[in-house]
Amino acid sequence: MESKIIDESRQGEVLELPQPQASSLVANKKLFLESYGCAMNFSDSEIVASILLNKGFSTTNNFNEADVILVNTCAIRDNAEQRVRKRLTDFKRAKKNNPDLIVGVLGCMAERLKTQLLEEEKLVDIVAGPDSYRDLPNLIETVESGQKAVNVLLSREETYAEITPVRIDSNGVSAFISIMRGCDNMCSFCVVPFTRGRERSRDPHSIVNEAKELFENGYREVTLLGQNVDSYKWQAPPNLPDGEEIRIANTISLPFGEGQGGAVTFAQLLEMVAKVHPDLRIRFSTSHPKDMTDEVLHTIAKYENICNYIHLPVQSGNSELLEKMNRGYSREWYLNRIEAIRKIIPDCGISTDTISGFCSETEEQHQDTLSLMELVRYDFAYMFKYSERPKTLAERKYKDDVPEEIKSRRLAEIIALQQKHSGLRTQKGLGKIHKVLVEGISKKSDKNMFGRNSQNTVVVFPKGNLKKGDFVTVLATNCTSATLMGEVI
Ligand code: 5AD
Ligand code: SF4
Repeated sequence: MESKIIDESRQGEVLELPQPQASSLVANKKLFLESYGCAMNFSDSEIVASILLNKGFSTTNNFNEADVILVNTCAIRDNAEQRVRKRLTDFKRAKKNNPDLIVGVLGCMAERLKTQLLEEEKLVDIVAGPDSYRDLPNLIETVESGQKAVNVLLSREETYAEITPVRIDSNGVSAFISIMRGCDNMCSFCVVPFTRGRERSRDPHSIVNEAKELFENGYREVTLLGQNVDSYKWQAPPNLPDGEEIRIANTISLPFGEGQGGAVTFAQLLEMVAKVHPDLRIRFSTSHPKDMTDEVLHTIAKYENICNYIHLPVQSGNSELLEKMNRGYSREWYLNRIEAIRKIIPDCGISTDTISGFCSETEEQHQDTLSLMELVRYDFAYMFKYSERPKTLAERKYKDDVPEEIKSRRLAEIIALQQKHSGLRTQKGLGKIHKVLVEGISKKSDKNMFGRNSQNTVVVFPKGNLKKGDFVTVLATNCTSATLMGEVI
């Protein structure tokens, strides 16, 4: 799945909030909620928290004192699932001490394994897929009445549009906003279409309202999340009462409907969110090379507050393999998209995802990925070894025939090259002036603060009188491989 960024530092992160938000239906229950996987999963956990806190739950960071443990899981590669299985053994011990403890598995692994999970992991009481979180209070009640509870129905409509997420582990400056769910692309290696279902876009009004509310609460950066943001398309519901379509057009202040049959595209959505306030930074993830239009690039170029950074997963640099992956583009098409980015947004940061050792990958095909990396010189990359996933097209059609040690060696070559390019990227920022959004105190010294520039590079600078959420301009005078350091000017 491309919803950016499996952030290693966040894996297994626990949601904890100071106070219960509302008085109780399920009085005084303590929830331990732990999340794995991509940004979309962390964003979903904020929805889960919102639903349960509204039912009177409070959170804890100690699973031994919890009444309910929920684990929001990832199924993208086998090792993501193994990690969760291992974690469940810790909860098994807690359940021995407290037989009333309820353990639920949420998210992609729940959706993939369904009731099988109850058979394989005897301690699990609840299995809930990504579209069933509104049902969690009922599922918990079912377990309290002595049964196991499963809801793995996928929906064509659910976007949790009107649920205000509870911001987890928030720095109070940047937040995720989910703009769509599911994926229709069926890349042959990917389990996401099976675990997150059909693609659907969220109502743009609710997205803009969430961005406005965040800004009013002091947030200064939002990341719009979707598996393939470029195919975001929101269609006004049919049979609107007379004048309603015009009302919608006025609220979103766009030439609503012109040329696209009453739909809002990703480029338009970006514009709508950018207009919320010039001091609200916009990021987004993930773009898809087959769908990324010049219109989107022009919108990014037009608005200073839309960050110049695009995560554009390539997966492989070889056209034949891309076809086998069912990615819908060739090497040439991809490089053309890179050229368009460089032309329209000259200082744009670009990152990617790669997969090493996909079915039948030859040495030459692997070299094509390395040569493409040389051409693009990515600022950053998430690099993986192919992991066969049950039910995917690749599992059914092709053999996972690249030996493990070859996968590892190819991945190591890709990582080494990327490290070199990432270093070059950082060095390129030296001697330049960067506009930085202050995110917090530097981990290394409390005399310094850190933030990111538009291209997503971390920048460290002296604290002075600055505070989180300020924008500063920094002249970069020094750097490590991934961080710029400098003076506020
Ligand atoms: N094996 C390895 N990597 C995968 N990804 C998705 N499915 C697999 C798989 N079966 C990677 C892709 C995607 C990123 C989020 O995870 O590179 O873009
Ligand atoms: Fe991303 Fe392709 Fe998976 Fe969709 S099917 S989530 S586009 S990798």
